[in-house]
Amino acid sequence: MLISVIVGSSRENSQSEKVAKYVQTLLSCDTSLHSVRDLFPKFWDHEAFEDKKASEVLQNQAVLQDFAAADGFIVVVPEWNGMAPPALKNLFIVCNKELAHKPALIVSVSAGMGGSYPIVELRMSSYKNSRICYLPDHAIVRHAEQMLNEAEPQNSDDTRIREKLVYLVKMLEVYAIAFQSIRASGVADFVTHPNGM
Ligand SMILES: Cc1cc2nc3c(=O)[nH]c(=O)nc-3n(C[C@H](O)[C@H](O)[C@H](O)COP(=O)(O)O)c2cc1C
Repeated sequence: MLISVIVGSSRENSQSEKVAKYVQTLLSCDTSLHSVRDLFPKFWDHEAFEDKKASEVLQNQAVLQDFAAADGFIVVVPEWNGMAPPALKNLFIVCNKELAHKPALIVSVSAGMGGSYPIVELRMSSYKNSRICYLPDHAIVRHAEQMLNEAEPQNSDDTRIREKLVYLVKMLEVYAIAFQSIRASGVADFVTHPNGM
């Protein structure tokens, strides 16, 4: 089983990347990690998109195959001006079938006490055509710069978020096993029903 971790920040050395690498270590199956910083360095290449060269838009030939092979995802999303970063939203335009009918855990990241808005945004607007299936539970890493830095937790919030992440990653793994049978059923029909509505 493969779970792919997606870093939703375009910033170099982002806190989202730190959190993503931490949650990757909690997975007990095969893993991969991709950052929108590498996938969309040009931000948006509409000509490539119109030509349906999704791998060119993504700037990574292998990532679509990797997402297609994945059984689930962890989407690590920072809060930027109360939103999910635009490069992460690009991903949901370029990828459709690769994410479809696969469970995903949302982990949001905030420098302060934020982090709710990007969760709401992903739950509201990223699933329609992609058919990504978010777990009902999610995590918010608040005061991210103070969290998940050392081998041992440094305070009670650090302890609590680590315990929560361990639990949520376990939940994602059992969802990912269960969802394999949904895709194997052959009921999903992207030809007759290409869009989610
Ligand atoms: C353009 C920009 C806008 C931001 N807006 C918010 C915000 O609305 N709410 C918030 O809690 N943090 C905000 N932050 C701070 C991020 O939460 C902080 O950078 C945190 O480390 C997560 O982002 P990162 O993964 O890019 O590091 C913003 C950061 C940037 C770069």
